[in-house]
Amino acid sequence: MKVLLLNGSPRKEGNTFAALTEVAGALEKNGVQTKIISIGNKPVQGCIACNKCGELGRCIFKDELYEKVLEEVKEADGFIVGSPVFYAGPNGALCALLDRLFYSGGRLLAYKPAAAVAVCRRGGASAAFDRLNKYFTINNMPVVPSQYWNFVHGAKPGEAKQDAEGMQVMRVLGNNMAWMLKNLSSGAAPIPEKEA
Ligand SMILES: Cc1cc2nc3c(=O)[nH]c(=O)nc-3n(C[C@H](O)[C@H](O)[C@H](O)COP(=O)(O)O)c2cc1C
Repeated sequence: MKVLLLNGSPRKEGNTFAALTEVAGALEKNGVQTKIISIGNKPVQGCIACNKCGELGRCIFKDELYEKVLEEVKEADGFIVGSPVFYAGPNGALCALLDRLFYSGGRLLAYKPAAAVAVCRRGGASAAFDRLNKYFTINNMPVVPSQYWNFVHGAKPGEAKQDAEGMQVMRVLGNNMAWMLKNLSSGAAPIPEKEA
């Protein structure tokens, strides 16, 4: 069992990374493998609405980031997306990637448990969290809960680790995702038939 954690911050080892690392630690303790991929700080191509992905089954743009995430998504049993809050929303570069990923490869993620994590200095986490959850809930993905909404607070890189409650929420999220993955893998009930 493997969970892909996508770090939507241009800071490779900033606060979003710290939050995702805490989730990953809890998953690993439960015997679930993890991989964290960062979107990095290079420009990210957005969707141009060409609709070619409908024919190709993938995006026409072949940038390294999209290729890497698409390959990892195929392997993953669960998906967690973390983002810093920029002007009360997720990082625009992350949304550019997710628009293309879900439009062209949503079928690879359907029925896989997912969660969003929003990291901010002070405000806007709720709006960013809602925006990210929209990708999952339009795509048949069960959303994993925690004991509070998945927010961690901090400004300078590393400060997130001082948010004890936020870190606790991250650990509970990891434990809950492991629990959901294990239950779903029993196959006790088949995936519902898809309606056209
Ligand atoms: C362009 C920009 C916009 C930001 N907007 C917000 C905001 O709306 N609310 C907030 O609390 N913090 C805001 N921040 C602060 C970041 O969310 C915060 O520093 C966060 O910890 C960064 O995470 P990272 O280290 O993973 O990049 C903003 C930062 C930047 C660079």
